[in-house]
Amino acid sequence: MADLPDTMLAAYLTELGGPERIRIGHLPVPVPGPTDVLVRTELMAVNHVDTFVRSGGYRTHTPFPFVIGRDLVGSVARTGEGVDEFAIEEKVWCNSLGHQGRQGSFSELAVVPRERLYRLPAQADPATAASVLHTAATAYLGLFRTGSLRLGETVFVAGAAGGVGSAAVQLAVAAGARVIAAAAPEDFDWCRRCGADLLIDYRDQALPALLEAAAPEGFDLWWDNSGRHDLDLAVPLLKRGGRIIALAGMAARPVLPMGALYTRDASIRGFAISNASAADLAEAAPVINDLLATKRLISRINATYPLTAAAEAHRQMEVGVKGRILVASDPDPG
Ligand SMILES: NC(=O)c1ccc[n+]([C@@H]2O[C@H](COP(=O)([O-])OP(=O)(O)OC[C@H]3O[C@@H](n4cnc5c(N)ncnc54)[C@H](OP(=O)(O)O)[C@@H]3O)[C@@H](O)[C@H]2O)c1
Repeated sequence: MADLPDTMLAAYLTELGGPERIRIGHLPVPVPGPTDVLVRTELMAVNHVDTFVRSGGYRTHTPFPFVIGRDLVGSVARTGEGVDEFAIEEKVWCNSLGHQGRQGSFSELAVVPRERLYRLPAQADPATAASVLHTAATAYLGLFRTGSLRLGETVFVAGAAGGVGSAAVQLAVAAGARVIAAAAPEDFDWCRRCGADLLIDYRDQALPALLEAAAPEGFDLWWDNSGRHDLDLAVPLLKRGGRIIALAGMAARPVLPMGALYTRDASIRGFAISNASAADLAEAAPVINDLLATKRLISRINATYPLTAAAEAHRQMEVGVKGRILVASDPDPG
């Protein structure tokens, strides 16, 4: 087993707050417990939730110094004494670090509990993988577990061009659903590449009529990751038994047309991937791996920052950019 250094470069917090609170420096290399794996990180992603954890907007246990970041793609550096299913140098990924007391992924080396670590298929592109680990797992659990999506159903995705939206479009299409997507016109081509059957401009004044024409029988599943939640629009457009997945819009206070909801046997189902168990995430992992290996899960990458620029990567996420933001352990990611 190769010798490891005593310290590693990391992006970490000593208190919650804005991106300026992110410190770059050396921390001791963590020691994996008997059922953990120490991973040499390669690529990480910035997600909205990472900015909520950093700021304190999403409360979770963050032992200081707290390494930020949720996802990683990397290779096995060392295994705990009880772990025999992973080999040194094997390519792996994780999408559930940096919350509930676990240290995050934005460091050269990161400890991952064995049940949260998955092999990366040789055919998968590491950058594409890193950019969809969080979004595709969100889409999988939201569509199939929370949303009970079935073959042939009609799905509406608002915010379809975004990270989660584009993953939701792709997974719903892969599952045989008909997908109507709302996005800005400049993103229509991207959404078509994701497989959306019909595109609608979310700023179009005629949106209600366009949606009604697109699905005269109504929608089975309504997925709005723009966070707007116009329930006056959504509920009357649901089929009987239709489901609205609530997964975004922390501060939204929508008006609910109650009669239209219960007379349709419709429901609004809340979901946060941070609550997903290791077993839930392990159910999503082989689906994500299969789609990555067969190039059926694509993403738009806006930029890749070095680990030392983690604060700037967070700022860009908060400003709002089109495409995913990655962070690389390589000081010169190109
Ligand atoms: N509950 C969970 O488990 C979970 C997991 C992951 C993410 N999330 C949440 O999901 C949300 C989306 O995340 P993301 O990573 O996909 O963000 P993102 O990449 O920033 O995407 C947001 C998308 O919403 C679009 N949009 C804005 N206003 C819209 C409107 N009125 N109608 C339709 N689309 C609109 C944006 O389009 P423009 O570019 O045109 O503005 C953008 O494409 C965030 O709030 C995040 O916190 C929740």
